[in-house]
Amino acid sequence: MYKIKSVNSVVLGLCVVVWIGIIGIGVALGQSPKVIDFNMGWSFRLDSVSDYRDQGVDYQDWRQLNLPHDWSIELPFDSLSAGSSGTGYLSGGVGWYKKMFTLSETERSKRVYIEFGGIYENSEVWINNTYLGHRPNGYVPIVYDLTAYVNKNGEPNVITVKVDNSKQPNSRFYTGSGIYRNVKLFFTSDVTIAYNSTFITTPVINEQQAKIKIQLEIVNHLARRQNDITVETQVYDPQGDLVSQEQTKELRIHGGVNQFVEQNLTVAQPLLWSPDTPHLYRAVTIIRQGKRELDRYTSVFGIRSFHFDAAQGFFLNGQSLKIRGVCLHSDLGALGMAFNRSAAKRQLQIMKDMGVNGIRTSHNPTATEFLDLCDEFGFIVMSETFDVWKHPKNPYDYHLYWDEWYERDLVDHIKRDRNHPSLFIWCLGNEAQEQWHDPELGSAIPVRLAAIVDSLDGTRPTTIANNEMSKDNPVLMTTAIDIVGYNYNHQKWLSFPQEHPGRKLIVTESTSALESRGQYDLVPMDSIRKWPVRWDIPFDGGNEDKSISAYDHVHTPWGSTHEESLRVFETYSHVSGMYVWTGFDYLGEPTPYTWPARSSYFGIVDLAGFPKDVYYLYQSVWTETPVLHILPHWNWQHGDTIDVVTYYNQADEVELFVNDVSKGRKAKEKNNLHVSWAVPYEAGSLTAIAYQDGVEVRRTTRHTTGEAVSLVIKSKQDTFDTAHEELAFLEVLAIDVGGNEVSHFNEWVNVDIQGGGRVVATDNGCPTDLMSFQSWTRKAYNGKLLVVVKGDTANEIIVSVHADGLKSGIRKLVMK
Ligand code: GAL
Repeated sequence: MYKIKSVNSVVLGLCVVVWIGIIGIGVALGQSPKVIDFNMGWSFRLDSVSDYRDQGVDYQDWRQLNLPHDWSIELPFDSLSAGSSGTGYLSGGVGWYKKMFTLSETERSKRVYIEFGGIYENSEVWINNTYLGHRPNGYVPIVYDLTAYVNKNGEPNVITVKVDNSKQPNSRFYTGSGIYRNVKLFFTSDVTIAYNSTFITTPVINEQQAKIKIQLEIVNHLARRQNDITVETQVYDPQGDLVSQEQTKELRIHGGVNQFVEQNLTVAQPLLWSPDTPHLYRAVTIIRQGKRELDRYTSVFGIRSFHFDAAQGFFLNGQSLKIRGVCLHSDLGALGMAFNRSAAKRQLQIMKDMGVNGIRTSHNPTATEFLDLCDEFGFIVMSETFDVWKHPKNPYDYHLYWDEWYERDLVDHIKRDRNHPSLFIWCLGNEAQEQWHDPELGSAIPVRLAAIVDSLDGTRPTTIANNEMSKDNPVLMTTAIDIVGYNYNHQKWLSFPQEHPGRKLIVTESTSALESRGQYDLVPMDSIRKWPVRWDIPFDGGNEDKSISAYDHVHTPWGSTHEESLRVFETYSHVSGMYVWTGFDYLGEPTPYTWPARSSYFGIVDLAGFPKDVYYLYQSVWTETPVLHILPHWNWQHGDTIDVVTYYNQADEVELFVNDVSKGRKAKEKNNLHVSWAVPYEAGSLTAIAYQDGVEVRRTTRHTTGEAVSLVIKSKQDTFDTAHEELAFLEVLAIDVGGNEVSHFNEWVNVDIQGGGRVVATDNGCPTDLMSFQSWTRKAYNGKLLVVVKGDTANEIIVSVHADGLKSGIRKLVMK
C-alpha cells in the first residue's frame, strides 16, 4: 500500500513502437540451436569507487562465484541502509562481474549472443573493451549481440558487467542486487528466427481438433539475398509423438530484412491445458537452406481456450473456474533474489497443495524459468510489468527511466512470455500514482500500454491493479483495459456490476492480513485489530517482540482478515479471481513494524516455507484434501482461557475434547469458515474429532509438550541432482520424550555437513531474526528451522543438526 501526493505531470510520449529489428537475433534461449549455460566461473567485486571496465584490469584476486548471484542477501542487516524497511535493511551498492571465455572454431563461425535473465539494476556490459549497452530495468531480459566483437582468432574474451544499485531507495520491496537470474550464450546461423519473434496461438479449439497458428520472423543477417530458405514446424504431443507438421514453400530473404512467416497446423483430439491437466505440446521449428539445416528451435505451448464474463467470471475450456490465486514477489526467502529452480518449485508445490490455482507475479516480470514451472504445475498467471509509471513511489525508482524505457521494457516482457500457456492476463501497473494525481496521464498511459500489448498479443486481456475505487480514478475508468482490477475493497465487490455495468472484475490483490507463524495473543480471537491504524500514520503499537498473533485477527486498514475476503470472494460469481497478498512472506515491507523487523508478515506461509494456520483455512475451502487443523499450541498457564479454532472440510461438525472431556460439538454457522471454543487451559491433550453423518471421519490432537530432548530432520527428498544446482530443503524440528513437536523450542541449532556439500542458507521464518541467512547457526523459531543444502561432487553427504543438551538429528542425502 502506498499513496503519496506527487507534483510533476509530464506528458507521456506517445511515440509508436517500432519493434521489428530492435534486437533482431535468434529466438528465446532454450529454443536456440546451441545454448550454453554461462553461469559458471565469474569473478566478482563489490566496489563503488573504482572503475573496472577496462579489459586489462587485474581481477585475479576477485571473488570466484557462479551465477545467479544476489550480493545484497550476503550483506549484514543494517538499520541505516538507505533502502530502509522497504528493502529489508539489506543494502545495494555497485558490483562488478567479469568472465573470461574462449570460443571453439565452430562457435566462432556462428553468430554469438549473450542473454541475461535479469540484472538488478542499471547494468552496463562490455566485451573486450567494447561497450554493449546500458539497461536500467532490473527485471527484464537483456540480450547483446557479441558476433562482431568476439576474438576471431581463438584468443580469450572478457565480458565485464557493472551493476549499479547504489541509488536508494528505489523500491518498496526487496530487489536484491546483481546478476540474479540465469545467463546463457547462444549461437545461431546468419539466417535464423528473429529474437523472441515466435508467437503461437490456438485460434480454433474443439474436441475434434485444434488449429495451431505459428507466427515468426526470419532474419537474414547477411548483406546478400538468401534463396531456398524453408521453415518447417513439427508439433509433438505431451507424450512426445509427432502429431502435425508443415513446411513453407521456398523463401527468398533479402539482406538485413526480417520476413514474416505464418504457419497453420492442426492437432487432432487435442489434450487441453488446465490446472488439473497441464498438458504441454512442443513446436519444433527447423530453418533450412536447400537441404542444409541452419537452425532448430523448440517452443513449448499449451492448448486452452478461456474468456471472462461480466456476470459469471472466468471460464477455462468452457468450464467456469474461479481463479484462487496468491501474489508472489520474486525473492526466494533466505536465498534472496538469486533464482534457483528447486527453490521456486518448492514454493509452487506448497501453493498447489494449499489449493491455489493462480499466481500474480507482483510487481514485475518474473524469471522465465518460473513461468516454465507455472506451465508444468498448471497455474493461471497474472503477469505484471510495472509497479511505478511516470510518477514516483520512491526517489530513485523506475519513474526516472519511464519516458525512455517503458515501451522497450513492456515489449521485451510480452515477447519473451507470450507463449506460456499458464499466462492468462497482462497486468500493466500496480496502484499507480496517476490514479490520484494526474488525470491526463492516468488516462493516457493505460491506453498506450494496452495498445502495445494488443499489437503483440491479441489473445490475452489486460488489467491494472487499482486501489482507488472512485469514478474520478482515470485509470480505473479507462475502457481500453479489458478487466477492472481491484486491490482490496472487498466491501465494494458486491456492487461492482451496478457501478460498472457490463465490465469484468478481477481482484488483483486482497487481504493483507498479518501474522507470525505459531504466535498467539490471548485476546479474544474475534477482536479484530487494524495495524497500522491508517496507512499514513506511523505505527507505535503492536507487540514488544514485534510478533503478530496468528489467529487471523490482525490486518492492515486497507485489507481484511483472510476469512473475510475469502468468504466474499467465494460468494459472488462475477468476481472472476482473487490474488491474496501474499502466498509467502517476502523480504522487506515488514508492515506494520520497522527495525528490527526486516521481512513481511503478510504471507500465508512464512519466509522459510512453513505454513501459518490460515494455510489450512484455504486448504479446507479450496481442495479436496481432507483437512482438520487445530490451533493454537497447548502449552499455556493454568487458568488461561484459550480460544481454540479448527479449520475443517468434508465433515458436518467437530467436537473438541480437553483431556478427553467434551467441550461440545460445533458446526460452521452462517458463513463462517471455522469453528471455535473458548476453553480454560488444562495441561494434557486437546483433541478435535470431525464427524460426517454422525460418524467419526478424522481426529487430531495437540499435547502439552515437555522440554525438547532431540532434534529431527524432515525432508521430502533423500536424493538431489547436483548437476542442476538442485537444493535440498531440510526442516528441523525439536521433539520431547513423547515424540511430540515442541512448538516453543527457540534455541540455537548448529548445522554440520560431512562428505562434501555446504549450507547455502538457514531460516526460521521469524521476521526479526537479524542473523545472516548464510549462517550455519541459527535459533529455531516456534519449533522450526529450515536448512538449505547444496551438494557437490560427493556421492552422498551426511547433514547433522545439534543443540545444547539435545540428541542430534541426522540425515543422509544421496546425489544424483
Ligand atoms: C498493496 C501493494 C503491495 C503491498 C501491499 C501490502 O497496496 O500493492 O505491493 O505493498 O499493499 O499490504
